[in-house]
Amino acid sequence: MLGPPGAGKGTQASAMARRWGMAHISSGDLLRDNVREDTGLGRRARPYMERGELVPDQLILDMMAERMAQPDARAGFVLDGFPRTVAQAEALDGLLHRTRQELDGVIYLGVPEEEILRRLSGRLTCPQCHTIYQVDTMPPKVKGTCDKCGSALEQRGDEQPEVVRKRLRVYEEQTAPLLAYYQSKGLLREIDGTIGVERVLEAISRLVQGAREAV
Ligand code: AP5
Repeated sequence: MLGPPGAGKGTQASAMARRWGMAHISSGDLLRDNVREDTGLGRRARPYMERGELVPDQLILDMMAERMAQPDARAGFVLDGFPRTVAQAEALDGLLHRTRQELDGVIYLGVPEEEILRRLSGRLTCPQCHTIYQVDTMPPKVKGTCDKCGSALEQRGDEQPEVVRKRLRVYEEQTAPLLAYYQSKGLLREIDGTIGVERVLEAISRLVQGAREAV
């Protein structure tokens, strides 16, 4: 899944994983778990995340290779937040080649900046099961409490408007070049991320169905 911060990558990746029985592998969730558990990786990644910058590639690549090798990823996986630089995309190509796997497709969710700022100012996230909410459009049934696991919902530390603007600049400079990278491989598919969550999922479903029928 490709797209700017707040485009809906995590929301859709989680729904896709449930629908098709795949693993949802989110680099951001893995990093935040490491920060919360105060691991060595978490301590190294935290300052970058707080500033809205990318964590150095090598830390990410080791973490993702380890996660993609876990048993639940054998039936396939949705990558959310990774790769994020051309160097990460090239490393992913190498990793998939070594493990005899292929990337089936890359979905880009386009959403304009003002909508991103609106969405992220009201996002709530479950620190335990990573379910994502939005206070106006996708609120939990009980205020402040995760519908799925009952944990207290949190706002992420990187949701202040100035950090979001920094993340948007970093996205334009370092991640947007991946659109051309995957376009040139014939893998890129664009979906309008401003339509509702259900309609985005249906558009993704049509793409996945089409890809399966083509095999
Ligand atoms: P990460 O956690 O990956 O954040 P991000 O890519 O900036 O994206 P977000 O999680 O903020 O947004 P999203 O697109 O998943 O949207 P969501 O579904 O939540 O990365 C965080 C940090 O970790 C980075 O800044 C970096 O420091 C580090 N990092 C992570 N990966 C890295 C990597 N590979 N390399 C280096 N560093 C890395 O939706 C947003 C809101 O909108 C929600 O409230 C949701 O309910 C709502 N919403 C979703 N879809 C819709 C819709 N269709 N209509 C209306 N509302 C919607």
